[in-house]
Amino acid sequence: MSITPRFLDELRMRLQLSDIVGKRVRLQRAGRELKGRCPFHNEKTPSFYVNDDKQFYHCFGCGAHGDVIGFVMQHDNLSFIDAVEMLAALAGMQVPRATPEERARADKEKSLYTLMEDAAKYMEAQLRNPVNRDALDYLRGRGIGEAALSAFRVGYAPDDGQAIAGHLRGLGYSDEQMIEADILRSSSRGGAPYAFFRDRVMFPVPDRRGRIVAFGGRILPEHLRPARTGDFKPPKYMNSSDTPLFHKGRMLYGEPHARQAAADGLPLIVVEGYLDVISCFEAGFRGALAPLGTALTEEQIQVIWKLIPDGERAPILCFDGDEAGRRAARRAADRILPFLKPDHTARFAFLPEGEDPDSLIRGRGRRAFQSVLDAAMPLSGFLWTIHAAGRAFDTPESQAGLAETLDQEALKIPDRQLQSYYRESFRQKMREFVWQQNRRRAPAGAGRRPLPSSGVSIVRPARQAKDGLRQQILVSALVNHPAIFESVEDDLMALALPEARLGALRDALLVFLQENEEPSAVAVRDHLIALGHEEMLDKLLSDSIYIHAGFARPEAEIGKVLEGWRHTFRLIGDETVAQEQRSLGKVFGAETTDEMFERICALHELNKPSDG
Ligand code: UTP
Ligand code: MN
Repeated sequence: MSITPRFLDELRMRLQLSDIVGKRVRLQRAGRELKGRCPFHNEKTPSFYVNDDKQFYHCFGCGAHGDVIGFVMQHDNLSFIDAVEMLAALAGMQVPRATPEERARADKEKSLYTLMEDAAKYMEAQLRNPVNRDALDYLRGRGIGEAALSAFRVGYAPDDGQAIAGHLRGLGYSDEQMIEADILRSSSRGGAPYAFFRDRVMFPVPDRRGRIVAFGGRILPEHLRPARTGDFKPPKYMNSSDTPLFHKGRMLYGEPHARQAAADGLPLIVVEGYLDVISCFEAGFRGALAPLGTALTEEQIQVIWKLIPDGERAPILCFDGDEAGRRAARRAADRILPFLKPDHTARFAFLPEGEDPDSLIRGRGRRAFQSVLDAAMPLSGFLWTIHAAGRAFDTPESQAGLAETLDQEALKIPDRQLQSYYRESFRQKMREFVWQQNRRRAPAGAGRRPLPSSGVSIVRPARQAKDGLRQQILVSALVNHPAIFESVEDDLMALALPEARLGALRDALLVFLQENEEPSAVAVRDHLIALGHEEMLDKLLSDSIYIHAGFARPEAEIGKVLEGWRHTFRLIGDETVAQEQRSLGKVFGAETTDEMFERICALHELNKPSDG
């Protein structure tokens, strides 16, 4: 493509700057100019001026300044080429192409674009056709509002395999074009080509400039479908195959809206499906995007980064809270690592098990989804969690193994500078982790006096009441009241948790609360569920616990929570010490050694009520 200065001059001349700006900003006349509130910074009184004679705009507030091309680039968040093409189309000008082949290709693309646009219009109209009321009722029944239906141009493809072809032929398109656009498929049995999408709710897929380039079609629920013979089970969704306009792996559903959202400073959120994008949009999460029926590709993550105009590019990737979701998240992390650059990264969020963003927002409201997003982990933290959380690295060998694994992860980042920051961050976490491990082995309050080593550990007593009700109460209260974390952190670390699942949950809780300042109880819960602790949580956050300890309840008053927590913790201390003394007696029998004597002294020290 060769865009000459002359072409650009012509383009500027044909367009009236105030027309273009006026479609996006309310302008009022001010002498020879027009003025309005600047779209590029926050202001109450207008200091943004548009001068049609001089063909530029200027803001006296923030200094924004430029011509019509610069304005749409900045305002609509478009690249130079995209801005020129968009404006040229408005001005009725053809962007010059260098070679005849390029021109021929552009012509062909243009007719495919108009074909897709006409197909989308047809499907939109079909959704409004009273004979297809079932489809519209279905969408409305799922709670999709009128505004979203039209913003996403949702449509319906009729059951009749010839209907759309007849319509498009009437507009002058050939069957070959319709096949090329994957609107029609040629028949394998030698019959006429037939519509690829039949009796489906249709989601047109726009490219980043809003041109329709593909479709996704969802089947209607069984009771709304005509009974068919045979046991063929049609897929829930069908998607257009790749065409000259559409490459599945390089685009996402929702790009135009997400681009605008990113320009408005909203986060980009990668979800799984069409309806997730639409529900997010309706709930105000306008930055939602979805890959088209596949896992997120390297190319898609780069597309997403490009949609974000400036600052740190850290889209939030949402995954299911089950084992499969965690595996998918790991694969995504693996795929992204080789492309990381300074300020180009991703965050990882996990949905409660069995929910997708659509069901979560509809069922538990936008705040439930917001807290999932709030709990998103940075990539470095996610890698750490994958390798370290919930496992005991309590020997130098296993610690070195963890360090090695994390180093290997960092080495996948080709950007040298970023790689070294990752390694440093992992090392820092390692140091804290080892330090905590060591502290955990020495219970709080006993730190002043080093414990003599012994085959019997105080923190993990060999035999303790299996159910550990008091321990469960402590963890339960903290999950419901993360605000007490600061006051109980040391005790929580020192707490002996013989039951492995409760111990793993506590470790995950510790890591999360150390990394997030006072998260909400919902965020804590969702995070733990995402890490696979749902079953344990169900037990902890239930009446079987609250019945013994009212202070653990979600609605308990914070002062009471802390008081109850400390009391319970002290009771455990007493119990542990008594037990230790018993087992020490067993281990050493009648043979009292110096070591045993010292150890018993240390236990007595521990037995004194803590003053914390
Ligand atoms: P889901 O099966 O999770 O469906 O597929 P959904 O998006 O939640 O839709 P509802 O709520 O059941 O109506 C997630 C995404 O995976 C792709 C689609 O892009 C879908 O939005 N998919 C799913 C397919 O491409 N083909 C299928 O058969 C199923
Ligand atoms: Mn769904």
